[in-house]
Amino acid sequence: MPVDDSCLSGFYRLDPEARRALLTHLSPEALEALSSGGGLDEASADRMIENVVGSLALPVGIATHFIIDGKQWLIPFAVEESSIIAAASNIAKRAASCGGFSTSCDEPLMIGQIQVLDVPSIPEATSVIQAEEASLIEFLNDIPSTMIQLGGGCKRIECRQVEDMLILHLIVDVRDAMGANAVNTMAERIAPRIEALTGGRVLLRILSNLASERLARASVRLSPDAIGGEDVIAGIIDAARFAEADPYRAATHNKGIMNAISAIGLACGQDWRAIEAGAHAWAAISGQYSSLSTWSIDDEGWLCGSIELPLAVGIVGGASKVHPVARACLEILGVDSAQQLAGIMAAAGLAQNLGAMRALVTFDNNSKLHSTRISWIWPEIDEEGPLIWNLYRTQLTVSSVNFMAPLRTGLSGEAGEDAWFNETESGLRESIHLEQYYYYVLIPIDVVGNSDYLVRPGNSRGIVVHDQYWSYHFPPPEPPPPPPPDVPYYGPSPWYGRLLDDFGMGRFQQAGMVFIAVFLTNLMLVPMMINKYRVKKRKVRREKARKAKRDGTMSTDEFADDFDDFFD
Ligand code: COA
Repeated sequence: MPVDDSCLSGFYRLDPEARRALLTHLSPEALEALSSGGGLDEASADRMIENVVGSLALPVGIATHFIIDGKQWLIPFAVEESSIIAAASNIAKRAASCGGFSTSCDEPLMIGQIQVLDVPSIPEATSVIQAEEASLIEFLNDIPSTMIQLGGGCKRIECRQVEDMLILHLIVDVRDAMGANAVNTMAERIAPRIEALTGGRVLLRILSNLASERLARASVRLSPDAIGGEDVIAGIIDAARFAEADPYRAATHNKGIMNAISAIGLACGQDWRAIEAGAHAWAAISGQYSSLSTWSIDDEGWLCGSIELPLAVGIVGGASKVHPVARACLEILGVDSAQQLAGIMAAAGLAQNLGAMRALVTFDNNSKLHSTRISWIWPEIDEEGPLIWNLYRTQLTVSSVNFMAPLRTGLSGEAGEDAWFNETESGLRESIHLEQYYYYVLIPIDVVGNSDYLVRPGNSRGIVVHDQYWSYHFPPPEPPPPPPPDVPYYGPSPWYGRLLDDFGMGRFQQAGMVFIAVFLTNLMLVPMMINKYRVKKRKVRREKARKAKRDGTMSTDEFADDFDDFFD
């Protein structure tokens, strides 16, 4: 049964107890299991596997805001990695504003494989099996079983040849079970009859985890506004293309999808290794490992995503019934059938995929990636001293961290050795942020697990998160120094060097030629002009003298000049 309101806005700001108080549809047993810190007592753990020495608790959180097939769902995740649930809820909230997710699932058909060796004729054996299929199915389904009473049981038998082996596939409807046990039992039961019919030897008879007959599909459509704009959509399309084309990227892309699917599977007591194996085998079914999801833009510019993968999950049997926390998680979900669970897991996988891609394509170095680092030296401890240390971070000046959640627990090290803790800003509100002041406090915990939780000058350190922009951005390179002027060194008489250089210049040479031509012309013309002038002058004087001689008025000077001219 889905919930009335999966929004639970601000759910993440509450403490675990207040969050549990909002899960009003849960039974007291489920609430108790969730609050018990793991929920598995040692006797139950010892019954589940062999050689038990303890159990491992993982945090269980709830992804909010999911609308799937028009109904609201709160989805439990069991996972150790932070920001997975935040990212899934965030995308679910965005998708909810556009109608949420749609799903469709195949019938819960599992495949049981029977390997037949040394078959005299595989084509003949195949014909015999096909002819006997109805009677074989009747034989398989003729057992007292709730699954068969509910409409399940073997539905088909298919034959394949793989190398020189005849491989039979029993296609079994397992209803709300994961189905491994039912399918394995059927394969074992029918093996002697298969040997008799084929003349071969049956070796393996076991379920296939490539549950290709049990596919779950989910799709979603988001407007540009809901996802953050057209640029974000374009980035997501390019990121998805990368995953479709490159197995190296596809592995990480699909890991992001499985962050949700495996976490829900684990929370709900599913065989998450089987789910992982099936998903990755399906991702490589074409012969090249590729993305499990596809993303495109529709005619209205909306982002459309879809996913298809085998999901062999059950809500009856297995750990989903034994483990109290798994039971509580199924109660949180309130699904009616294994198919419904598969659809929800596929939708959450698609949301997780989109959340990771959106975070990657909108990654902003300007505001993220600030980090803090504190270091310390482990002190000498006497016999009664602390065994381990817890690390706290607070923004308030407090005298005790008694009621605060530690950042790290169980820290310890050899006396005198260095230790350090680095923290990098993430999208989460509780992460460190720029320009904020934080106190990191190391609290000793004694052998019995007690501490006074007191903050003292010696066990606390204050740190401001400064802008580390230039740690992640590289300044543009310094412009290269201007090239030295193209003037060679001329030694102590630079004017002479420059003159020599100038001699090499075309214009200088032209000017020089003109100068020389003018100079030589003048050299010839000026004496000629002077000579001409003197001749002219002499002619005038002689003319004057001749005139004076004729007139008888010749002076002594003129007479002397005339005499000089005679000897010139
Ligand atoms: N814990 C749980 N849910 C959170 C959350 C947190 N710390 N921060 C945001 N959310 C969810 C809530 O559902 C919230 O809705 P609500 O306030 O109605 O409850 C919704 O996101 C929107 O909150 P908002 O504060 O607007 O989120 P945001 O846009 O700042 O995004 C992150 C915060 C962490 C979700 C986002 O930065 C992100 O997706 N980071 C990448 C995480 C990731 O993909 N990691 C890798 C795993 S594959």
